[in-house]
Amino acid sequence: MTRFVRRDRNQTESTLLQKTARFMPSGVRTPSGSDEHEMVVESGHGCWLRDVSGNEYLDYLMGSGPLLLGHAHPAVVEAVTRKITQGSSYLMVNEPAIELAEQIIETVPCAEKVVFNSSGSESTFFALRMARAFTRKQKVLKFEGAYHGMHDYALMSTQWTEGARDSSAPVPNSAGIAHSVEEDVLIAPWNDLETTQQLLEERADEIAAVILEPLQRTLPPVPGFLERIRELTQSLGIVLIFDEVVTGYRLALGGAQEYYGVKPDLATICKGIASGYPISVLCGRSEIMDQADPRRLMSGDHVRLTGTFSGNAISCTAALATLQELRRPDTYETLFQRGRRLMEGLSLAMETAGVPCQVTGEPPAFQPWFSENVIRNFRDMLSADATRNRLFTGLLLEQGILKAHEKFFISTAHGEEEVDQTLETFREVARQIAAAG
Ligand SMILES: Cc1ncc(COP(=O)(O)O)c(C=O)c1O
Repeated sequence: MTRFVRRDRNQTESTLLQKTARFMPSGVRTPSGSDEHEMVVESGHGCWLRDVSGNEYLDYLMGSGPLLLGHAHPAVVEAVTRKITQGSSYLMVNEPAIELAEQIIETVPCAEKVVFNSSGSESTFFALRMARAFTRKQKVLKFEGAYHGMHDYALMSTQWTEGARDSSAPVPNSAGIAHSVEEDVLIAPWNDLETTQQLLEERADEIAAVILEPLQRTLPPVPGFLERIRELTQSLGIVLIFDEVVTGYRLALGGAQEYYGVKPDLATICKGIASGYPISVLCGRSEIMDQADPRRLMSGDHVRLTGTFSGNAISCTAALATLQELRRPDTYETLFQRGRRLMEGLSLAMETAGVPCQVTGEPPAFQPWFSENVIRNFRDMLSADATRNRLFTGLLLEQGILKAHEKFFISTAHGEEEVDQTLETFREVARQIAAAG
């Protein structure tokens, strides 16, 4: 393995970073919020990312998940290039959108009807609106530590905040969130069936929807958890929404609902479907989805949810090309096999170096927790050593491996050679962490 030596930042990149700081109020976007990750991306190919100074990183950030086939997959580039000369956005239904809707219905268990949006946040927001309209109830229940995007209902008690341990009251995660929204969000602890069941049963008359990430961040559901939530929501007249913005097409063609074998009423899908082109999907049972039919406008039970870019032909074309690749035999077997090698190799490297570490997730998306304890919920996550985690991410970057402080995202472009290289780096980094004490 040739050793990665990071080049100094060149003048062009320095100037670009200065401009970013001056012109863009959310600042220099880095996956970690720390200086060592400050860079300007020049290009991405396969599982490699290049910065403007000429450094090539082995990428496990992968755009935070959308690049399931890697950067600039040739089949996607070819399909988009062919289509783009015919325009991109018509605010009218078009062939790629129709074909894509059909393929989603074919592959995703709960999908009987489909609505296209542009971002994951939009789809989770609209899913909640659909549920409120359908049940004529107001409140939504989400799990502590789950992330469903940036709208006011979603940005409550996410991974960035800690509320009172035994309270179902949400903690808003941003200034500017309407206080009135707080009244309509209830929080339950992930993987705690007893507390969740009690909340659902006590407040069933008020709760329109339960929204959950079936793989919450990288915390899988404990056996029986999803199944029991499904039974409870069904019997209590509550809409069950699976936020599959990350897991859709990543864990299986049918997403987490296929992988874990539990079918929700509605699902939101985004990152895995279109190789980095902006599109998201809200899909589910016809009865609920049909509320989007504009012919219901005058009857008072129409749910409005259009957007200027919804169903744009380029994103739908990228998604069709992506699905064609994902449907190839052995795609998921290979993805899982490589991810499993990385998860196991990471655990072993830390164990050998004497560094307590738990690796959670599923092979296509996982992360380490520097802790002696089993990590099953948000509170367990908080007990892990965050300083060690930052050290881990920083040391990887020094060795040319890019990731955020959270997940490793695996793509079909990560080959055996890159996995070998990563495992060697894990061993080296584990020794460095142990030596740092
Ligand atoms: C599970 C989940 N839901 C929703 C979102 C929001 O998606 P977007 O950033 O496209 O709005 C994200 C983004 O990371 C996510 O991970």
